[in-house]
Amino acid sequence: MQLIDGKLLAHSVHALVASEVEALKQQRNIVPGLAVILVGDDPASHAYVKMKGKACDKVGFYSIIHSMPDTISQDEIIATIEMINDNPRIDGILVQLPLPKHIDSNKILEIIDPKKDVDGFHPYNVGRLVTKLDCFVPCTPLGVMKMFEKYEIDLRGKDVCIVGASNIVGKPMASLLTNADATVTLTHIHTKDIKAHTLKSDIIIVGVGKPNLITEDMVKDGAIVIDIGMNKLDNGKLVGDVDFEAVKDKCSFITPVPGGAGPMTIAMLLENTLKSAKVRKI
Ligand code: GUN
Repeated sequence: MQLIDGKLLAHSVHALVASEVEALKQQRNIVPGLAVILVGDDPASHAYVKMKGKACDKVGFYSIIHSMPDTISQDEIIATIEMINDNPRIDGILVQLPLPKHIDSNKILEIIDPKKDVDGFHPYNVGRLVTKLDCFVPCTPLGVMKMFEKYEIDLRGKDVCIVGASNIVGKPMASLLTNADATVTLTHIHTKDIKAHTLKSDIIIVGVGKPNLITEDMVKDGAIVIDIGMNKLDNGKLVGDVDFEAVKDKCSFITPVPGGAGPMTIAMLLENTLKSAKVRKI
């Protein structure tokens, strides 16, 4: 079994981004900028946004967090996004999800300028991803693809089972893998027998938010397991969706939680924001 070290990979991405930012500053007086919109007081969202802000500081980005109470109206969020769309210092806009129930997330995401949509959630970028055109790719699935590339895991013709069909992870992951010539099964809450699908798969990617969802009997020998889950247990311990201790010895490769997909998500946000700055400020 080989552990996929997302933390180490993310560090090398941070270093590369930081050196490119330094060069952009020196040569063209450009500082990439990221704006984050955070609504409400969900502790997990606050923790993620804090980590994203810290990562921006580390690589030399300009960043700003617009924190709003969960009583804010949809129109006020839209007005803020429109203002950021027009702000030349900002190259990337990220609306931390989930939003409060009275807000229509799809409406909000559609307001973001697709050229600043570093999360890749705008329908313009979603459509371009499906059709394999250049676009902003959602950060978590992009980070998983980077892990496959760095560990030289060949995807062509592989049977991949994705567990969880969210817009943030499962659906874009399915597009990326299909574009990479894998055979993809996208399972979700209404799938009749998830084990029947995982058990025959070369690669299992799970992002649901349920500890121990993937147990040892669901994994075939030599499989590759990518755990995107992030769950805080009552004792404060962070775990993924995979029963790691029981599953790890069956795998050829497995990601740990923490230290796997999570750090790569932030690293890809930095890459996407840098890409936006370079394209927008030619
Ligand atoms: N909530 C959980 N994951 C993500 C993500 O990758 N981006 C945003 N904006 N919100 C999230």
